[in-house]
Amino acid sequence: MTANDLLPLTEEYGCPLYVYDVATIERQYQRLTTAFSKVEHLRINYAMKALSNLSILKVLLKMGAQLDTVSIQEVLLGIHAGCPPEKIIFTPNGVSFEEIEEVAKMGVQINIDNLSVLEHFGTKYPTIPVCIRINPHVMAGGNQNISVGHIDSKFGISIYQIPHILRIVENTKMKINGIHMHTGSDILDIEVFLYASEILFDAAKNFTDLEFLDFGSGFKVPYKKGDIETNIEELGRKLTKRFLAFEKEYGRPLTLAFEPGKFLVSEAGYFLAKVNVVKQTTSTVFAGIDSGFNHLIRPMYYGSQHTIENLSNPKGKERFYTVVGYICETDTFANNRRIAEITEGDILCFKNAGAYCFSMASNYNSRYKPAEVLWKDRKSYLIGKRETFEDLIKNQIVVDV
Ligand SMILES: Cc1ncc(COP(=O)(O)O)c(C=O)c1O
Repeated sequence: MTANDLLPLTEEYGCPLYVYDVATIERQYQRLTTAFSKVEHLRINYAMKALSNLSILKVLLKMGAQLDTVSIQEVLLGIHAGCPPEKIIFTPNGVSFEEIEEVAKMGVQINIDNLSVLEHFGTKYPTIPVCIRINPHVMAGGNQNISVGHIDSKFGISIYQIPHILRIVENTKMKINGIHMHTGSDILDIEVFLYASEILFDAAKNFTDLEFLDFGSGFKVPYKKGDIETNIEELGRKLTKRFLAFEKEYGRPLTLAFEPGKFLVSEAGYFLAKVNVVKQTTSTVFAGIDSGFNHLIRPMYYGSQHTIENLSNPKGKERFYTVVGYICETDTFANNRRIAEITEGDILCFKNAGAYCFSMASNYNSRYKPAEVLWKDRKSYLIGKRETFEDLIKNQIVVDV
């Protein structure tokens, strides 16, 4: 998509606005499947926490993706979008046993990351096969908050506890049909990924009934100029080789699964916001937009640096701005950033706004969530209405005590 495509959308649908480009999602999906095309049974479970709009799910399902979910509500959304339950994997962390039971009864593949849950589930439902999420104790991920495979992480069952897993399996006679890991997002180095994969292969040797190995995700996409991107093609070549060798050693066909979120949808998203004020202080020039971390929390929460372009003045002389939101708290999108000269009323475009942006939006400061638009074959489709005052109050019960 170009600035010429995006700008008219703000006139049609208003600001702030999320726009998603279907062609980019398709390109990324094809890159991934092509990189692993030598694997006979490949499964891409889209991590729908990244962006769970029903129309986005439909785009991915149509391409052959399955779904990775972390809550029963995501499972319900996935089914509502047309995904058969058996094509969904549920990877919860810290949810109630009742929720896991309910999802299992729908026919969804369960992935368990806790010994006590494993024992409870295996005792009660020995005939329902489950996947096990291991914690490989690998430090991977672009930021402390998104590194989830290390020894202090709350995710997964430690590889050192495999003897305990095996004892539970033996005692309950439950069937383990998959083994899984997810070490973090934004993994910088594919060697770290390959190293963690070796740990998964080693762990897998302990289980005789496996149908799939799930390597999670963590593929990095570039956010700003000069950023590293996961070399998916190289990872494809190296991991395929190892996977095929392992499959032979294991003695039966296995499915290789991934669960990418960011890789599939990050670059497809654009967040458009209008500049309400330009404010000069003694030390800086602020550009204050009609949005805040309630709509796009990544810069404040993860320190992520989304590239920002001024769509209204793309050829303008670059100046330094600190781009801030309207939330009544420190609310900074970008510090001291070079952007083409900004005038009040200009439209700024934040790139990489597909993953973990709208899906993490809130009503903080009682603001409405933005509208969402899909862009396909040079046509736009409204796929999420801008909220209204009615949405803010619809679940509130006023008592006057
Ligand atoms: C279990 C699990 N799988 C997959 C993902 C998707 O990761 P990414 O968006 O980096 O591809 C996440 C992200 O939080 C996750 O927790």
